[in-house]
Amino acid sequence: MPSAAKDKSIERKIDSLREEIRHHEHLYYVLDAPELPDADFDLLVQELKRLEAAHPELITPDSPTQRVGGKPREGFVKVEHSRPMLSLDNAYNEQELRDWDRRVRELAGSDKIEYVCELKLDGMSLALTYEQGHLLRGVTRGDGSVGEDVTSNVRTMRSVPLSIAPAAVKKSGVPADFEVRGEVIMPLAAFERMNEDREAQGLARFANPRNAAAGTIRVLEPNIVAERRLDFYSYFLLVKGKYYPEKHSDALKAMQALGFKVNPNHLIATDIDQVLKFIAKSEQMREKLGYEIDGIVVKVNSMRTQDRLGFTGKAPRWAIAYKYAARSGNTQVEDILVQVGRTGKLTPVAALKPVFIGGTTVSRATLHNMDEIERLGVKIGDWVMVERGGDVIPKVVKVVEDKEHPRGHKTFHMPERCPVCHSHVVRVEGEADHRCINVNCPAKLRESILHFAARSVMNIEGMGESLVNQLADRGLVKNIADIYELDKDKLLTLERIGEKSAENLLGEIEQSRKLPLERVIFGLGIRFVGERTAEFLSEHFGSMDALMSASVEELEEVNEVGPRIAESIHEFFAEPSNRKLVERLRKFLNFKGVKKVRGTALAGKTFVLTGTLPNYSRDAAKKMIEDAGGKVSGSVSKKTDYVVAGEDAGSKLDKARELGVKVIDEEQMVELVKS
Ligand code: IVH
Repeated sequence: MPSAAKDKSIERKIDSLREEIRHHEHLYYVLDAPELPDADFDLLVQELKRLEAAHPELITPDSPTQRVGGKPREGFVKVEHSRPMLSLDNAYNEQELRDWDRRVRELAGSDKIEYVCELKLDGMSLALTYEQGHLLRGVTRGDGSVGEDVTSNVRTMRSVPLSIAPAAVKKSGVPADFEVRGEVIMPLAAFERMNEDREAQGLARFANPRNAAAGTIRVLEPNIVAERRLDFYSYFLLVKGKYYPEKHSDALKAMQALGFKVNPNHLIATDIDQVLKFIAKSEQMREKLGYEIDGIVVKVNSMRTQDRLGFTGKAPRWAIAYKYAARSGNTQVEDILVQVGRTGKLTPVAALKPVFIGGTTVSRATLHNMDEIERLGVKIGDWVMVERGGDVIPKVVKVVEDKEHPRGHKTFHMPERCPVCHSHVVRVEGEADHRCINVNCPAKLRESILHFAARSVMNIEGMGESLVNQLADRGLVKNIADIYELDKDKLLTLERIGEKSAENLLGEIEQSRKLPLERVIFGLGIRFVGERTAEFLSEHFGSMDALMSASVEELEEVNEVGPRIAESIHEFFAEPSNRKLVERLRKFLNFKGVKKVRGTALAGKTFVLTGTLPNYSRDAAKKMIEDAGGKVSGSVSKKTDYVVAGEDAGSKLDKARELGVKVIDEEQMVELVKS
């Protein structure tokens, strides 16, 4: 084939792969009705990635492979909305809703009234602008007039189309330049998962999915946003800054036709009684949705009537939010129990006299940790107020103190041994949480295996959640060393594992044995020991044995290892069950590393890179600084020693000047490294 013709055929192949992937993404992420097994879908994506890698000139920004792209270099830019994003007035009971309906009818004159009832999703609103069917920009609500450009993060949300096929645009009847507004939310499952991960890293939990969604959309690392699985439901369509078309219910249909996710739980109502029925129904549905709602929104369907009704100060008269009553109730604490989570964290849980709150019976509520118990001053026998907020698990808000509710007397103490495995429980100084430090604790087993097998750790592909659950449930893997004693016979007893996948998995496990010591150290799941610390530990000690026998003082000599990390590592290796596990791993894995002496020229110095450097890429400059013992951080603070500024340096440079941090150029950086 002549090369031009060949190029054309590759281009066609790439185009058709993209179409196919988009189609399956839409089925999966928007319609929640996948037709293809995940593995087959992954094959399509891999094939596209392979072709794109061989023909980078054919990569387009709307390719499904391009969701996670570059990060906004200097924070988010402010953008004015095409039309203000207003908020809604609230109604808290039936009477207030009926009053609103009466006012609407009075002001609407002879117009016949139809309402659209929608769920009020508890997230954060966003405006997405499309030009010629391509996503141009995603902007937060901000103060309603001006928001922040968070496009790089919006692109990572799979329910947001990056581009819409011209045929679909045509079929929807919507002009190719339009704006969609809606709510970004974090589903409950994603929220729980993220909080567990944060706890494992010693970070604070997000209080509820709304805060988590709002916080995530403003994270400056699109790859982190992508991991957090945000979802987007659209509820407004605008063309040239005006609502489109004549009926809101048609706008919902049009957005669906364009490929957006529209919440299926909506209803056209012809009077307020139907609206009230929808509310009653929604309250029952609420528990089963898998995401949080805090009420329902009622909108006048006709745009013409909307225009007649107009706005008050900051809210339209043609819509209202009916807010559910806060879900709380009083009950008595019968006991305080302790649960062990995936990360070994011990959580005190109040066992309550069962109480009916917002549609379900509550008999347990979390007390988070010892600090929280002390803050609340709660004792066993107390009466408490329990709230069901955004968290899946209800929580104790306060102790009820009045004459009818006598105080309890029994003080709760954290157990000294893990209630599951009876190993020692520790509370690292300065931290709120108590933890079981035994890696073999069954409660922690699943988590530690998943961590060990993760791509950035031992990279055992195929060892995902469902497999790990089976392995743990059947006792085939009781700790990470057991992974290396799996064989085909054992694997074939599992569900959904055939000859081929068993062989693949064993191949993956075999491959993992070659990985360097730093990965093994990282894989042990020692608290506070991430990828980078593991690398420093491996380079410093050069072997697992040297690391295992290091004292706290010796550990503190390692780059970036402070007292807290040193303490945690020492404690880990002091636990006999952990030592036994590491001994077993010796047979299978690399226990010897390569000692590397990093330069000391920049020891203890922190750098921030900004702008484009003339000769070095960011990664190269970072490596150079790190090899000389320095540290590179992403943001400027008083602790920064040097800001290395290149061309087009932005707000980081301003910040450096403001804080009086020394600013240098590339040449001076090289000088420092050599010194
Ligand atoms: S309509 C002027 N529809 O609730 C129109 N808002 O309290 C205002 N929300 O800022 C928005 N679900 O963040 C609308 N189906 C829905 C909604 C919804 C959630 C949020 C949105 C808005 C807030 C108003």
